Amino acid sequence: MSDLVRFGISLDKHLSDKFDKQIKKKGYANRSEAIRDLIRNNFVQQQWEDQDEVAGAVTIIFDHHKRELQSKITDIQHDFHGIIMASQHIHLDHNNCLEIIAVKGRAKEVKRLSDLLSAIKGVKHGTLNMSTTGEGIL
Ligand code: NI
Repeated sequence: MSDLVRFGISLDKHLSDKFDKQIKKKGYANRSEAIRDLIRNNFVQQQWEDQDEVAGAVTIIFDHHKRELQSKITDIQHDFHGIIMASQHIHLDHNNCLEIIAVKGRAKEVKRLSDLLSAIKGVKHGTLNMSTTGEGIL
């Protein structure tokens, strides 16, 4: 077994309380186990980002009533046509639209597309799910 290293972490109370609540909900035995998982996930994420080619989906939720928003979102997607395989627009409810954009390409480019879309004013939430065919790591 590898050597154990102990270190302390300073957090403000609000953040610490939230973290404790979350790890309890997820069923971790203690903070150490939860933090180890966070660190491992971070390494996996980093490994994905270093991959030449990833596949995944960008998901955005935005305000249907802001008319200029849809055209901005479309403009950006045209700039990235080389990595976008398909997209689907769902009229979520009276006010909100959901768009799911399937992507395949260099991780950095996929990330850039996701960042640009998420940063548009009026886009309420954006997520990027990056996956990989696993060559070399899975
Ligand atoms: Ni819509």
